[in-house]
Amino acid sequence: MSERMAGKRVLLTGGVANIGLAIVEAFIAEGAIVSVVDIDVKKGADLEGRFGGKVKFLQADISKEEEIRESIAKAATWMNGIDTLCLNAGIQLSGKAETFSTADWDRVFAINVRANFVFVRESLNFLRQGGRSSVVMMSSLAGKRGAPGLTAYSSSKAAVIGLATTLALELAPEGIRVNAVCPGWIDTPFNQPAINFMGGREKQEAAAKAIIPLGRQASANEVAPLFVYLASDESSYVTAQAINVDGGVYN
Ligand SMILES: NC(=O)c1ccc[n+]([C@@H]2O[C@H](COP(=O)([O-])OP(=O)(O)OC[C@H]3O[C@@H](n4cnc5c(N)ncnc54)[C@H](O)[C@@H]3O)[C@@H](O)[C@H]2O)c1
Repeated sequence: MSERMAGKRVLLTGGVANIGLAIVEAFIAEGAIVSVVDIDVKKGADLEGRFGGKVKFLQADISKEEEIRESIAKAATWMNGIDTLCLNAGIQLSGKAETFSTADWDRVFAINVRANFVFVRESLNFLRQGGRSSVVMMSSLAGKRGAPGLTAYSSSKAAVIGLATTLALELAPEGIRVNAVCPGWIDTPFNQPAINFMGGREKQEAAAKAIIPLGRQASANEVAPLFVYLASDESSYVTAQAINVDGGVYN
């Protein structure tokens, strides 16, 4: 494996399973060290041993501003700085707009959008010191086009694109890049609320086959390489973009 991320000090949210874990594996293979911030202490517990000291697990509920600040301070102390923010954590709650509660709307936005804003704002001093710093935010295909039954989720992922592109323009003069990634259907348990809304796994698979030009859902490992590209200096002239990994759905 090459060393495309040698020396990079990454704070990554939502990295204990599925897409986030695939990103951690790819980053470590490319020479980075990673502070994984996640609420799930059970899944996070064995991460440090598994990656031989190149990963630190930091438990935090990123819907709480104070816990975000604490996790940034701990990550920066452990890595002696932060030059890469990879904001992948998110939740999905399903339900048509007419029955969706305001409390659920606020929770989705607190985790999927507000946390990303707070992470960037509170990390800026470190990103400025880091040199060629990069921020990569997880959006979704659902942020580019409407997703029936995912009112708040789809809206929140559209907001992530607005946040990422705006921050990219604000921070470009300082050489800090910000991009968003928009995956389509990635086969992880995360999509269960959407699958329930669609009437079950069989119906969802049939719909995916019909809608996706490549004819299948993707695995988490097919998303991680784009994060490596955007987090590394290979993408030094790429900023303010929202890039799809969706098998050709959005064209
Ligand atoms: N699976 C897909 O089809 C798909 C498609 C597009 C985008 N995405 C996005 O990719 C990201 C990862 O999805 P995944 O499929 O790997 O699912 P996942 O549930 O494994 O990942 C989400 C992670 O966020 C963490 N998290 C949730 N709430 C948190 C909180 N309050 N504080 C800290 N951590 C919290 C979870 O513990 C989990 O590790 C999500 O942002 C999701 O919106 C997924």
